[in-house]
Amino acid sequence: MPDDAFTFRPVTDADLPFVLACQTSDAAAPWFAPLTLDQARARFGDRLAGRSPIRMVIAHVRGRDAGYAQLYRVGDLPTDGFIPADARDVGLDYCLAGDLVGQGLGTPFVASLVGLASWLFPDAPGAVACPDHRNRASIAVLERAGFTAGLWFDTPGPAGGSITEIAYRRAIPAAEY
Ligand SMILES: CC(C)(COP(=O)(O)OP(=O)(O)OC[C@H]1O[C@@H](n2cnc3c(N)ncnc32)[C@H](O)[C@@H]1OP(=O)(O)O)[C@@H](O)C(=O)NCCC(=O)NCCS
Repeated sequence: MPDDAFTFRPVTDADLPFVLACQTSDAAAPWFAPLTLDQARARFGDRLAGRSPIRMVIAHVRGRDAGYAQLYRVGDLPTDGFIPADARDVGLDYCLAGDLVGQGLGTPFVASLVGLASWLFPDAPGAVACPDHRNRASIAVLERAGFTAGLWFDTPGPAGGSITEIAYRRAIPAAEY
């Protein structure tokens, strides 16, 4: 297996401190509201227990936990999580561990997530990710992973108020069995 091949496993409660560490790295802090462990349990508990349509996974590469991601059908999101994409598309959120940011891992991470999305949701026509329009690192990896920019839209921001995100989409070819 090449060095930068990502694998994934479901997030458990024991992973939440790692998830929070990912969210508070210098690269991630502008895009996430800081959470305590108790707040994270309240926010993510249903996802970890399989009671939410949002699936959380730990990403593994180079022999270590490397980040986490979320995958969900766009149409399964609550209306306050609106994303301008096909309801059957798979939404992706992703975050590398801070010490791995800036090493070129972002593109294989996102490309591997598209593969996971097509495995979890075989009839999904596309994958979509919605970076803040100022998130140049995320936009660069999405473009390198074959995504193209669609609508710009306003959504509630991590620090209150609203932020402007861009819906980046990539078609997922129909699976051949
Ligand atoms: C988004 C993320 C996965 C990308 O991974 P990464 O390790 O930074 O990606 P790479 O090293 O492969 O490449 C990032 C590119 O963006 C550029 N970049 C990084 N930070 C930048 C910044 N602040 N401003 C401008 N460009 C930046 C890099 O130079 C690189 O481009 P290049 O190869 O042409 O030089 C990672 O930054 C991350 O986890 N960020 C925090 C969480 C997050 O933003 N998630 C996305 C939510 S949509």
